Amino acid sequence: RKKIRRISTGVRALDELLGGGIETRAVTEVAGEFGSGKTQLCHQLAVMVQLPEERGGLGAKAIYIDTENTFRPERIMQIAKARGLDPDQALNNIFYARAYSSDHQMILVDQAKSIIRQHNVALLIVDSVIAHFRSEFPGRENLAERQQKLNKHVADLLRLADAYDVAVVITNQVMAQPDVFFGNPLRPAGGNILAHGATYRLWLRKSKENIRIAKIFDSPYHPEGEVSFRITEEGLVD
Ligand code: GTP
Ligand code: MG
Repeated sequence: RKKIRRISTGVRALDELLGGGIETRAVTEVAGEFGSGKTQLCHQLAVMVQLPEERGGLGAKAIYIDTENTFRPERIMQIAKARGLDPDQALNNIFYARAYSSDHQMILVDQAKSIIRQHNVALLIVDSVIAHFRSEFPGRENLAERQQKLNKHVADLLRLADAYDVAVVITNQVMAQPDVFFGNPLRPAGGNILAHGATYRLWLRKSKENIRIAKIFDSPYHPEGEVSFRITEEGLVD
């Protein structure tokens, strides 16, 4: 296997769960219900990738494709400051693009390649990967077409990750269904969970107040079990 690099999440327990952090040359899907912390994790990773290697980063930049208009520059600056980075510089190191449709989202991934060729980019985020596909292809009757397009999109992302040694992180909102979260992934209920080719799938769920619980779903390479973290003013912490 080609050499991979890792980006720390900034949460020790989460890093241990992931085997050291988010991997390059892989697509990591972050799934969970609304408010479970998917977008917060994306913000945190866009900062963490910028840290020097001895502090868990890759001294590199990030590309952030935002489909739901939930990117918050102030939040990036807040997390950056807490990690000892210059907030303005940290924000400048994130190439931000809003995707207005599923087609646009796919075009942006294609355009990301030329940014990656010109800059030291080690992380590409698509938050959320699925929202446009869901709204453009609603209902059972469109499921096959939606799935086909989404599969191509994720395959594109996986090729990009591998070709450019970049970590790709995608988010996927799913309903809270304990039996689905921790049951058999091959038999999801409700058509919510879509096996669409991510390398790893990280599950987040809400606990009390600002506590969140994470688990890796269905991976032979990762430890079983759950870890918890908190969402604070400083970002995600143990
Ligand atoms: P959807 O996109 O709706 O599916 O949710 P999500 O999983 O992306 O959740 P998100 O990461 O947006 O939010 C998770 C939680 O983070 C929220 O419920 C807030 O409690 C918390 N949060 C968001 N922004 C801040 C912030 O600036 N400070 C603090 N302390 N908490 C925040
Ligand atoms: Mg979100």
